[in-house]
Amino acid sequence: AKYTMVDKETCIACGACGAAAPDIFDYDDEGLAENILEGDDNRGVVEVPEELYDQLEDAHSGCPTGSIKISSQPMDGDPGKAE
Ligand code: F3S
Repeated sequence: AKYTMVDKETCIACGACGAAAPDIFDYDDEGLAENILEGDDNRGVVEVPEELYDQLEDAHSGCPTGSIKISSQPMDGDPGKAE
């Protein structure tokens, strides 16, 4: 399983992830990215559907600040739990 969230402390609102993975990431009022999977609330607690793994990898590799966090376990809103 894969879980993902954006570390908003390091996101610089560059906008790459929403373009690479529009089904997973969108932006808040400040332009900072967040996980929009239903029920996740950018906490990294909803399993990313396998059909979106390609999008997730593109967003992860394309983020200039390493703010797209991925884990095999739920992150409960803590980007420090990323692997
Ligand atoms: Fe922010 Fe990285 Fe997306 S800087 S807008 S999380 S590509």
